[in-house]
Amino acid sequence: MGLNSGVLESAGTEQREAVVTVAGGAIPIRIGRGAARDVKSWWPERWRRALLVTQEGVPIPFDIPDGVAVSYVEKSEGAKCLATIERLASDAIRAGLTRNDGVIAVGGGVVTDVAGFFASVYYRGIELVNIPTSLLGMVDAAIGGKTGVNLAEGKNLLGSFWQPLAVICDLDTLASLPPREWRSGAGEMAKYIFLGAGDLLSHPFDLQVYACARIKAEVVSADERESGTRALLNYGHTLGHAIEGAFLARGEESAISHGEAVAVGMIFASRLARSLGRISAERVEEHLRVLSAFHLSPFFPPELEPEEMLGYLKVDKKNQAGLTFVLDGSAGLEVVAGIEETVVLREIEEFARWSG
Ligand SMILES: NC(=O)c1ccc[n+]([C@@H]2O[C@H](COP(=O)([O-])OP(=O)(O)OC[C@H]3O[C@@H](n4cnc5c(N)ncnc54)[C@H](O)[C@@H]3O)[C@@H](O)[C@H]2O)c1
Repeated sequence: MGLNSGVLESAGTEQREAVVTVAGGAIPIRIGRGAARDVKSWWPERWRRALLVTQEGVPIPFDIPDGVAVSYVEKSEGAKCLATIERLASDAIRAGLTRNDGVIAVGGGVVTDVAGFFASVYYRGIELVNIPTSLLGMVDAAIGGKTGVNLAEGKNLLGSFWQPLAVICDLDTLASLPPREWRSGAGEMAKYIFLGAGDLLSHPFDLQVYACARIKAEVVSADERESGTRALLNYGHTLGHAIEGAFLARGEESAISHGEAVAVGMIFASRLARSLGRISAERVEEHLRVLSAFHLSPFFPPELEPEEMLGYLKVDKKNQAGLTFVLDGSAGLEVVAGIEETVVLREIEEFARWSG
């Protein structure tokens, strides 16, 4: 079964807060059931109007105040495009949004990414509040200020760093999250185990989300612009993005979710680290146990070819000399550059054989 809406029952009523501290100030990340209900608690007094960006079917966990215009974006990764930004701008102008008004993003990572990018360029930047409603949004996408849209050439190639004023994770919104999206969030949550989250699953659900959000907040606070340690949040994402890219190119975007692909990518990264002598076989087994606890599949998708993966890996944004992966080691996760393509290809082939 894994994570699903049933786990909400284990959450208490307490509101918890993590904080991202960046040059621009402190950004509260509030986590709890009903956290967004009281609009006054997160609506800045100076805003007279706002554009609420969301998607059909996403629950809005508060009564929409007067002065708020609602814009819906398409329910797919395809909504992360410049045409969406133009349309949001037209909606905002029609709604009379000024530079002293704001944007409220209510939805998953697609919504917070486009709403954030839009907020960063409308009148050269207006304020933003993120209200993530997917598990992946709460533990990852809505925190940290990375915004962006995709181009035909690849994901997130246009974007900005634009920090929200606050991130409000209202756990009650998760009651309607589809099972697939729970699994996707689980993939990112499993990643935090390797970033020091400990025995996450032994805690009530609200604490699990809080623990992940706090780690993300700490990593972003230490390296807002990803000049170093923030890249560690990409654990499992290198092969994960290649897998997603290959399915997207086949027009089969829904074959695997982001978090499921990251989970497979973490197993591959552990196998690669083992073959480079960085970790033991027991540590690879530990990766498998973590995924199993989150009910995630560790297997390379049989539809994909190892050679095809290499094409995607070569254009990964992290690459410096040779291929670059985030890998486990005796000192924990590290960015490792200069890994030879032949080594990576051999390991993917072995991974595919092991996956059966
Ligand atoms: N900016 C960042 O730092 C960052 C980090 C990780 C991922 N991302 C981006 O996030 C996106 C993925 O985000 P995601 O996994 O949240 O997917 P998503 O935004 O596509 O949402 C998944 C689906 O769930 C629906 N949904 C969301 N909340 C719901 C709810 N409470 N009830 C019912 N349906 C709900 C959405 O409408 C959508 O159909 C990707 O585009 C990825 O690139 C960004």
